[in-house]
Amino acid sequence: MDFKSFAGTTIGVCGGLALYHFLLKDDASEPAYVPLLSERACKKWKGRHCLTVDNFTREDLNELFAIADQMDHIVKTRGTIDLCKDLLLTCLFYEPSTRTRCSFQSAMLRLGGKVVVIADAKAQSSVKKGETIQDTIRSLQCYSDVIAMRHPEKGSAAQAASAASVPILNGGDGPGAHPTQALLDAYTIYRHLGEVDGLTISLVGDLKYGRTTHSLAKLLTRFKNVKLNYVSPPSLAMPDYIMEYVSKHDGITQKEFQSLDDVLDTSDVIYMTRVQKERFPDPKDYEKVKNAFVLDLETCQKAKKGVKIMHPLPRITEITTDVDDFEGAIYFDEMRCGMLLRMALIAAVTGKA
Ligand code: NCD
Repeated sequence: MDFKSFAGTTIGVCGGLALYHFLLKDDASEPAYVPLLSERACKKWKGRHCLTVDNFTREDLNELFAIADQMDHIVKTRGTIDLCKDLLLTCLFYEPSTRTRCSFQSAMLRLGGKVVVIADAKAQSSVKKGETIQDTIRSLQCYSDVIAMRHPEKGSAAQAASAASVPILNGGDGPGAHPTQALLDAYTIYRHLGEVDGLTISLVGDLKYGRTTHSLAKLLTRFKNVKLNYVSPPSLAMPDYIMEYVSKHDGITQKEFQSLDDVLDTSDVIYMTRVQKERFPDPKDYEKVKNAFVLDLETCQKAKKGVKIMHPLPRITEITTDVDDFEGAIYFDEMRCGMLLRMALIAAVTGKA
């Protein structure tokens, strides 16, 4: 990015924020939404797909986080706004989901938009009759302004985007990517620790099939001096293609471990994950590793002071319920941050931010 465009964006975001804070000071119940993006940034966001984290720059993240912060205030003070009142989001989910689907739905409803949901596309849509993803998208975009989707096959979101004239937001494509989860995870870290630069972040559990960790490891390369620890059994190690991607970026280090104890006293964030039972070709292999890592309260108390515990959820056995009362347990707030971040993303890609 050249200096002029950097300065333009910075001035845009800072100017918007200053106006926003001025309005806040003036009358806390006043602001609906104060646009933060420059004209150039608005154009950049409008119509954009979110398929992987590959195309997101640090500047994009700064912009999204600033909008999400504003959404936080709006949700707290007013509940909803009418920013997307003329727009419709379709959620097309071929795989089970509680948080991702409801979070997209809630985000659009709080933006004042409408939502159509296909919660079990495999059983409930023409996919059952043999329709391709592309044709399903060609149909749904006749009704919608933006589509959030989840599918069991890696690459499916890109296939959908190849036929789409509206933005496709990938809510997980099999063991591939989960970019909006990575964006919300980074946003959660920024909210709770004030910054992401310089942190030591340990990703724990099923790093082979866990798409959230793939996208998060890649996204963390946008920050400075992040130390990434991968903690997993050898059979569930982080795939080479992710480690190669990360290694091409300066200022980020990655190390592999097999024991949680080895990272306890250095981690600022411990990001636990579920062993992804549904992705194992042989159920016997799942049985061998299903309880590989269990984080309990006693272990949390031995960890670095101020450590934050995260998890994209659902949890099975990997975090015991006594951790829920630990002051660094932020996995439930992670979901609220997710809705705010998705509000920001939907507003940005529909050209309303
Ligand atoms: C994750 C997913 O679906 O990849 N959950 C989520 O989106 N919040 C993690 C998981 O299913 O284990």
